[in-house]
Order: sequence, then C-alpha cells, then structure tokens
Amino acid sequence: MGRLAGKIAVVTGAASGIGRASTELFAAEGARVLAVDRPGAGLAFAGDGVTGLEADLTEADAPARIIAAVTAAHGGLDILYNNAGVSNSTLASEMTDEAFDRVLAVNLRAVFRLSREATPHLVRSGAGRIINTASVMALGTDYGLAAYCASKAGVLGLTRTLALELGKHQVTVNAILPGAIATGMTAASFAQPEIAAVWAKKSVLRRLGQPVDVARVALFLASDDGAFVTGQAIAADGGLTLRI
Ligand SMILES: NC(=O)c1ccc[n+]([C@@H]2O[C@H](COP(=O)([O-])OP(=O)(O)OC[C@H]3O[C@@H](n4cnc5c(N)ncnc54)[C@H](O)[C@@H]3O)[C@@H](O)[C@H]2O)c1
Repeated sequence: MGRLAGKIAVVTGAASGIGRASTELFAAEGARVLAVDRPGAGLAFAGDGVTGLEADLTEADAPARIIAAVTAAHGGLDILYNNAGVSNSTLASEMTDEAFDRVLAVNLRAVFRLSREATPHLVRSGAGRIINTASVMALGTDYGLAAYCASKAGVLGLTRTLALELGKHQVTVNAILPGAIATGMTAASFAQPEIAAVWAKKSVLRRLGQPVDVARVALFLASDDGAFVTGQAIAADGGLTLRI
C-alpha cells in the first residue's frame, strides 16, 4: 500500500520541476492530486490519480477556485503543497515596485491566501499537512535576490506561525529549503556548464539536485512518517549550506 493511500492533495506549480516530480510521486504513493499551475503551463499527467487545474495563484479568486475544485472532486483535502514560485534577478537599486510585488505575490501572499482557504478542510482531515517550498535563499542571499530572499524568508515566518496556530488541530506545517535544483527556474543558468559546475561543487555531494530529491522530502512530510515534525525548515540542498 502506498504511503499516501487514501490521501487528497493539492500541489501548486505542478507543471514543472519540483511540483511535477512531487505530483507524480504523491500519485504513485496512492494520493489523489489536484495539480495546479498557470494557464498554458502544460498540466498533462499520465496515469490515474492526477487532475489538472489552471489557475494563476495571484488572482483574487484562485484560492476559492482551487479548494472548491478539490473538495468537489474528492470530498476533502489532507495535503496542501504550496510549491509554485518565481524568481527575479535585479539589483535592489534598480528593482521596480512591480517586480518586487510580483515576486512577493506569488511566493508569499499566495501561500498565505491558499493556506487560509485550505485550513477548514485540513482541520477536518484530522491529519492535515501544509508543506511550503522556501529556499536556501531564505537563510542566505546573492546579488539581485532582494525580492526572492525577502519572499522566501517570509515563507519561513509564515510556516512557523501557521504551525503554531494549527498544531492543536493536528495540522503540521513545514518548509523545504531546496538548494541548487535542475528545474525550469534554473534551466537557463545551468545550461551554461561553468555555472552548473560551480553550483554542483557548492554541494558537498558534488552534484546538482534533481526535482525528485526535493519531492522525496515532501513525501516524508506529507506521509505518516512526518506526523511529529512541524514548524521546521528542512534543507534539501546536498549540504550546500554546510560551509560558511
Ligand atoms: N530550482 C531551484 O534551484 C530552487 C531552489 C530553491 C527553491 N526553489 C523553489 O522551488 C519551487 C519550485 O520551483 P522549480 O525550481 O521547480 O521551478 P519551475 O519553474 O520548474 O516550476 C515553478 C512552477 O511554478 C509555476 N508558477 C509560477 N507562478 C505561478 C502562478 N502565479 N500561478 C500558478 N503557478 C505558478 C510555474 O508555471 C512553474 O510551473 C519554487 O517555489 C522555487 O522558488 C527552487
């Protein structure tokens, strides 16, 4: 029997990278998954267990649409994986309000709004899970990442507070901090061998992460194995953050 047998999950950013790998792994472990991504992002999944829903998470009605869709299709919700994200590389001195707001809207505000909408159903589950994809950039930084780092640090604060407030309902809330993972977000950078080599070497495992490396951590947190883990930030970074 799968580790998520009988569970109902929502995964955002499911068309690509970490979200796609997590959707496929959750479904392979027996979950029924509502896979959410932007219109036109390419939500096509083979096999049973996955339904696609196109929604831009920054739209006002997106949380209500997503939760209505999953509860109408499956009658409840056990696992919310807030994974969708965008990046932006612009020096703070040159970043527009619009660019800053866009990153915060997807990476932080949408996580708050969808979590709030999901809460009654996760409470009803009796073993609800919220998993948020943050980043090692929630702890560190690099040039051009003012908005991205602010959003991901914000996700950690939100994660801790939701964990505190929802614990009495047996809802766990945790964040995953991926390191350098080969996905759509990093494809252009890692297509340059010298850049890929630098980031592979930063990991003490001497390789870039693959989406499934992060998906397996999400599976742990989503499953019964993670039942007593809450409010935590778990790095899936190949040891990238060990050296200071
Ligand atoms: N790749 C890395 O090295 C890395 C490192 C740390 C953290 N992360 C985080 O991992 C998460 C997943 O990213 P990924 O690396 O798999 O990148 P990705 O670009 O392959 O996937 C991100 C997905 O999010 C979707 N998305 C973006 N904005 C959206 C919106 N407004 N509404 C709905 N969907 C939206 C995109 O369409 C895309 O399918 C992100 O939160 C990202 O910040 C990635």
